[in-house]
Amino acid sequence: MKIFGKDKSEEKKLDSVAIIMDGNGRWAKARGLDRTMGHKAGAKIVQGILEHLRDLGIHHVTLYAFSTENWKRPKREVDMLMELFYQYLDTVVLKIVKEDESFCMRIIGDKQRLSEKLRNKCIEIEELSAGRPFICNLALNYGGRDDIVNAANSAINDGHTELTEEILSRYIYTSSSPDPDLVIRTGGDFRISNFLLWQIAYSEFIVLDTLWPDLTNEDIDRCIEHFYKRNRRFGGLDPEETNKA
Ligand code: FPP
Repeated sequence: MKIFGKDKSEEKKLDSVAIIMDGNGRWAKARGLDRTMGHKAGAKIVQGILEHLRDLGIHHVTLYAFSTENWKRPKREVDMLMELFYQYLDTVVLKIVKEDESFCMRIIGDKQRLSEKLRNKCIEIEELSAGRPFICNLALNYGGRDDIVNAANSAINDGHTELTEEILSRYIYTSSSPDPDLVIRTGGDFRISNFLLWQIAYSEFIVLDTLWPDLTNEDIDRCIEHFYKRNRRFGGLDPEETNKA
């Protein structure tokens, strides 16, 4: 059965997943620990989840690590997070990109507000891993509204006088990845928190009560099972309905 030039299996393809990693603070509080310990625990599970998604045949994963609004948190927590991101990139990610030629990391968001040390590490990782087939977009100082405004300004600076969806899509931070098929949010809150506003127009959304540091591969499997049960119509009708009309 064809719909908009795609057959049913293609319509259901799951190749791009985005994750809002929420709940680190509550995970720490429940254990009588400082919030920063929750972020450390959260960092420990990132690699395993990425590897699991890749083993499932997914090629694009976008992780929300720090938003343009997260600077409002206490300075101590922000400083700790920035150091954690630096250490993570400098140790775990650098090792992966050196050993695994399929892994590409792109850091999406406005790098200008990051420290020079962190910005340079982001650029080093991006340069080392460019052009590889499994892409992890790590959102650092990322805002969906900022992404759209930045894309529009970049397009205008390149001489475009009238924007189209196709042109703008070429300038957004995730231009190397298809729009997410599935967005997963841990931590139980039903909101999008300024994440990928342009890209999620037709993404499926799953919210898990599980706090990010507790997330397991089995939770991911259950999300994917749910995804395949969803009826994605992209604003159209089911093929049977279209044929009847
Ligand atoms: C939201 O939880 C989480 C963050 C703002 C930071 C995300 C960071 C990590 C998952 C760990 C580090 C990641 C990498 C890639 C090294 P929250 O603090 O808002 O939790 P809460 O809602 O329970 O307070």
